[in-house]
Amino acid sequence: MVLLEGKRQMKLELKGIGKEFDQGNGKQVSVLKDVSFQIDGELIVGILGPSGCGKTTLLRIIAGLERPTSGEVLLDGEPIVKPSPRMGMIFQEHALLPWLSVIENVSLGLEMRGIPARQRQETATKYLELVGLQDCASSRSYELSGGMRQKAAVARALSLEPSLLLMDEPFSALDPQTRAQIQADILRIQEKTAKAIVLVTHSVEEALILSDELVILSSRPGSVKELIKVEIERPRDRMNPQFLEMRETVLAYLNGGKQ
Ligand SMILES: Nc1ncnc2c1ncn2[C@@H]1O[C@H](COP(=O)(O)OP(=O)(O)OP(=O)(O)O)[C@@H](O)[C@H]1O
Ligand SMILES: [Mg+2]
Repeated sequence: MVLLEGKRQMKLELKGIGKEFDQGNGKQVSVLKDVSFQIDGELIVGILGPSGCGKTTLLRIIAGLERPTSGEVLLDGEPIVKPSPRMGMIFQEHALLPWLSVIENVSLGLEMRGIPARQRQETATKYLELVGLQDCASSRSYELSGGMRQKAAVARALSLEPSLLLMDEPFSALDPQTRAQIQADILRIQEKTAKAIVLVTHSVEEALILSDELVILSSRPGSVKELIKVEIERPRDRMNPQFLEMRETVLAYLNGGKQ
């Protein structure tokens, strides 16, 4: 755990989160049930679970974009009831604006916060350098490859300097090589900026490469099936016996074999 510039540690608490959606025919569907866990410090927490078990809904609730039907989310003891500037979110679709240059895309959130132009330029440049896109600052986003666009989305979220970064399957559209590279970038960035990260992924391998802790959700309604500390030394090697063993364990939990 790295603490930079005397920053105090972030604490995120999920307490008994439940969510029901109205199906439109007067019936309710239960999507999340009694989800509780906490993130104490600048850790990377991976969320794994079957498709449709409520992972995106859970991230949206953490982000304050959606209200839970029951329970609450606390960030440093304060209930989250609306989107907080202390959180950044990266979606699977990076949603860069094609008519803007890369640096303009990264600066957009800063502009919306009323940050003056010069400071916007400096901050955006700093984060473009951090993700290795400094040479593409004036390219249009449609000129970038998928991996570069995803890096620009990471730079955009980081430029707002959130305490907590929420990522919803951010790398699933990338080829394995680009994906491995961007995973390494995320680890380097996390070490440098000491951010807490909640990462939803379908890839057990990705979760094990990146995470300090794993939350395994059951099928819908998603509830916490297992909380696992990933105590594999870094840098992690996908072929290391300990890594492979852990992968088997997590897959067994996901497939319902291990109770
Ligand atoms: N706004 C909504 N209104 C009604 N139902 C919704 C709404 N949002 C999500 N759902 C339902 O909630 C369930 C969980 O959706 P969610 O997107 O959170 O799952 P997920 O775990 O992220 O799935 P995936 O792994 O496929 O991305 C689904 O059955 C979905 O149809
Ligand atoms: Mg989802």
